[in-house]
Amino acid sequence: MKTILVTGGSKGIGKSLVFQAAAKNYRVIFTYNKSVKEAKKICKKLKDQCIGVKVDLSKEVDRGKIFKILKKKKIKIDCLVNNAAFDVKRKEFNKIKISEIKKVYEVNVFAIYDLIQKSLKFMKSNKNWCSIINISSTAAKFGGKLYTHYAPTKAAIENLTIGLSRELSKKRVRVLCVAPGVIDTKKENIKNKAIIKSIPNSRLGSPDEVAKLIIWLASDDAEYINGTSITISGGR
Ligand SMILES: NC(=O)c1ccc[n+]([C@@H]2O[C@H](COP(=O)([O-])OP(=O)(O)OC[C@H]3O[C@@H](n4cnc5c(N)ncnc54)[C@H](OP(=O)(O)O)[C@@H]3O)[C@@H](O)[C@H]2O)c1
Repeated sequence: MKTILVTGGSKGIGKSLVFQAAAKNYRVIFTYNKSVKEAKKICKKLKDQCIGVKVDLSKEVDRGKIFKILKKKKIKIDCLVNNAAFDVKRKEFNKIKISEIKKVYEVNVFAIYDLIQKSLKFMKSNKNWCSIINISSTAAKFGGKLYTHYAPTKAAIENLTIGLSRELSKKRVRVLCVAPGVIDTKKENIKNKAIIKSIPNSRLGSPDEVAKLIIWLASDDAEYINGTSITISGGR
């Protein structure tokens, strides 16, 4: 049985990924923070196939909890998906406090460095490649209006993906990015007709579509895909 570690599995894309992975027979370890009720429901549904760990990813001590569990239960992982991200409100550049920027970087960038370093010690060494999949955004390439505290964090992990893939290929670990466009996880996006008009496919993406792409990228069928970012945005 393959094992996948997913951050932010309690909501949105991460939640879809937890269920899609379980359906593909993965054992799933997922993290959650504030959505405790939602996480408990997931664990109840998936029973022994999943472990939910309550972690505030902005805290290094908390991040360590995941790996204490893996060590205690002697679990090795095949795939790490860095999905969780700090959900920021759009703001004018001059109104963003440095303390806010630090918070966003702590979860969206620094936690990812830490989780990758720690996960590497728990990755299986077998004939199949393991993988690290970082969830970016189309905002990494195109910037984001009033999103200058968020979009650059995504550009940082896209760049990290390329350099790290060159280093980790010797260990048979692939490093990839998935960059979603507008996905229907947020109410304000669903209601915004202008957003839908700007998408060539004339609709928002679904969390399941992103999750299925991640699962495929983690599979042995995608073994030759490495060090790159795949956009899923309906052409936007
Ligand atoms: N939705 C989109 O349109 C879209 C577009 C482009 C890129 N993305 C990217 O796709 C990924 C998933 O987005 P989403 O919209 O599905 O997210 P979401 O619905 O807002 O869920 C975010 C997840 O991250 C967790 N999380 C956030 N801050 C955390 C923290 N400090 N510590 C621990 N966990 C934390 C949340 O846990 P709790 O709720 O339990 O606290 C939740 O499970 C993100 O990386 C996002 O940047 C999304």
